[in-house]
Amino acid sequence: MAGQCSVSRNAVWKAIKDLREKGYVIEAVSNKGYKLTENNDIISAEGIKACLPSDFEVAQIMVYESLKSTSDRAKELAMEGASHGTVVVAKAQTGGRGRKDHSFFSPEGGLYMSIVLDPSKLFSTDSKAVTSFVGNAVIGAIKELCGIEPYIDGINDLYVDGKKICGILLESGSEFDSNTLQWIVAGIGINFDSDIDSFPEDVNERASSLFPTGKATITKNALIARVIEKILDCHPDK
Ligand code: BTN
Repeated sequence: MAGQCSVSRNAVWKAIKDLREKGYVIEAVSNKGYKLTENNDIISAEGIKACLPSDFEVAQIMVYESLKSTSDRAKELAMEGASHGTVVVAKAQTGGRGRKDHSFFSPEGGLYMSIVLDPSKLFSTDSKAVTSFVGNAVIGAIKELCGIEPYIDGINDLYVDGKKICGILLESGSEFDSNTLQWIVAGIGINFDSDIDSFPEDVNERASSLFPTGKATITKNALIARVIEKILDCHPDK
C-alpha cells in the first residue's frame, strides 16, 4: 500500500489510525496490509460526493459529528451569503427543531441535513409548492434506494404504516422593506436505523425507522446523496 501510494509505511499506519479514530472498521490482513470491512456506514463529505453523479454540482457539503441544529447552521451560512446547494449534515443534533417550536429528537442512527436554497434558482417560490416538492423528493429518494414508499401526512411529515419516519422543516429569510425572499433552508430529519426503543416514550410510540438498527441495506451517505440530487435537480415533474 505504501509503495503504491509512494508514501512511508509510517504514513500509512498514521492514516489507518486516523480512519479508525473516525469510526471506520479496518482489519489488518497479515502480509497484505489493511482491509476496510463491509459494515462501515460513516457519514462523510467524501462518501456523499462519491454517491453523487460525477458531474453533479453541489456548492459545499459540511459534515459535523454533532450540532445543535443543522438548520440553525445552514441559516447562519445563508445569511453570510452561502450559495444555492450548500449542505449541512450532522450525525446527531442536540437541539433539533420541528415546526411550531417542537423539538425533533435527533440521536445517532438518524440522518439530519439542511440544504440552503436560492429562491431565484427554484421552479417556484410558493411555499406550498416548494414544501410539497421537498417532501416528494425525499419520498422519491427513499423509494428508489430502500424500496419503501412513505406517504405525507400533516404539512410535511413522512410516514410508513402509520408511524413517522421523517420530519421536514422549511424556513426562509426575506428582506423586509423590499419584501424579497432571500434564502430558503430545507431541513430534513430521517430515522434511518435509529434505535426507536430508546426514544422518549411520547416519541417512540409514534415513530419508526427505515431499517432496524444495524440492518440497513444501503448507506446513509447514499441516501443523503440521493436526497441532495432530487432536491437540487429541482424540476417538480421529474
Ligand atoms: C417536524 O417534525 O416538525 C420537522 C422536523 C425537522 C427536523 C429536521 S432535522 C434537520 C433539520 N434540523 C433541525 O433542527 N430540524 C430539521
